[in-house]
Amino acid sequence: MGDEVFDQMTTGGHEQVVLCHEPRSGLRAIIAIHDTTLGPSLGGVRHWHYPSDADALRDALRLSRAMTYKAAISGLDQGGGKAVVLAPASGGGGEAVFRALGRFIDTLGGRYIAAEDVGTSPREMEWISRETPWVTGVDPSVGGSGDPSPYTAIGVFEGMRAACDHHFGTADLGGRRIVVQGCGHVGAPLVQMLCEAGAVVECADLNDERAQVLAAVGARPVPLAGLLERECDVFAPCALGGGISDESIPLLRCQVICGAANNQLAHEGGAEALAARGITYAPDYVVNAGGIVNIAEELRGYDPVRAERRCRAIGATTAAVLERAQHAGITPAAAADLIARERIDARTPLASIFTHGERTAFNHRPDGLLRPR
Ligand code: NAI
Repeated sequence: MGDEVFDQMTTGGHEQVVLCHEPRSGLRAIIAIHDTTLGPSLGGVRHWHYPSDADALRDALRLSRAMTYKAAISGLDQGGGKAVVLAPASGGGGEAVFRALGRFIDTLGGRYIAAEDVGTSPREMEWISRETPWVTGVDPSVGGSGDPSPYTAIGVFEGMRAACDHHFGTADLGGRRIVVQGCGHVGAPLVQMLCEAGAVVECADLNDERAQVLAAVGARPVPLAGLLERECDVFAPCALGGGISDESIPLLRCQVICGAANNQLAHEGGAEALAARGITYAPDYVVNAGGIVNIAEELRGYDPVRAERRCRAIGATTAAVLERAQHAGITPAAAADLIARERIDARTPLASIFTHGERTAFNHRPDGLLRPR
């Protein structure tokens, strides 16, 4: 990783990078803490096979920074962090690896709080929770909030209503033609909510069966080929990121883009290109924050009703971002970054580095472990 680590941290504004190695389990992991001005860093644990250590570091730095902005724009008193576990080509993982990671997380005293991400599930969070209280997203049977995807879908739904209000002058989705790309954990419940709201929904998935079953809730499964070119009011990317690119933008025949996928724009310039085409882009990290909003609720003692209410507030946040963009003459993506940055900068610099979790704010789980209230 060489001596450019500090250069990368300086450029990204990162506070701390922790390299973790535990020879018996074979754990090799990087915990990146971007900014804890607003509170302890919160972010997923990604289990992934990287071509090189440098790629893993870059991913940890990029993802942790994005979490700072997502937490800030969502009004959470959390900072941004991310852990990446470097998987061997053969897959790796297992209880010993994640318990070792849990012990490293524990040494940070609450500066980093783990959650699920690509390659991890409530099972890995449960292993981590055997070693540290600083973990969320464990199974509801052991006091956690479980799969956050339905809450992410609620946030995207409310963000879409706000984006439609901004673009068309009404938040009513009745009769709106909406194309959903990806019918997985978030896409499927989103399709159902949209159909219930009276939208005319077309959906497609790489795994065609996942799209086909949604005919039962009133959606129309369509082929993947030519999906981006389908004429519609709203295009909802709910598969992988990077789909909005120099190649795809000229093909789009939608008025609004609003979906769950992370990093939808292949590069930052895409926001300008969409604006030039008159397409309203609801920034991905604003509308897909339901997952983190939900797990942050776990830190206060999980209440699904309050979690849903806070996810529905993503509509108001989206509206504020789009209004700010319009008034300032900037793209919604730039407006979101600006609002998030303002919130962080408003905190006194004296509070800029969160030191340790408030032990007094913790109680005991039924299984005897300490966990956030
Ligand atoms: P998932 O893996 O359950 O679903 C993704 C679906 O997209 C799969 O069914 C897959 O077959 C399909 N797919 C992949 N490539 C495709 C393509 N080119 N065209 C059409 N379909 C394709 O993932 P999940 O959890 O639903 O997440 C979807 C997106 O939302 C991801 O980008 C994820 O990072 C993001 N996200 C998810 C959150 C959550 O709470 N699950 C929270 C925030 C963001």
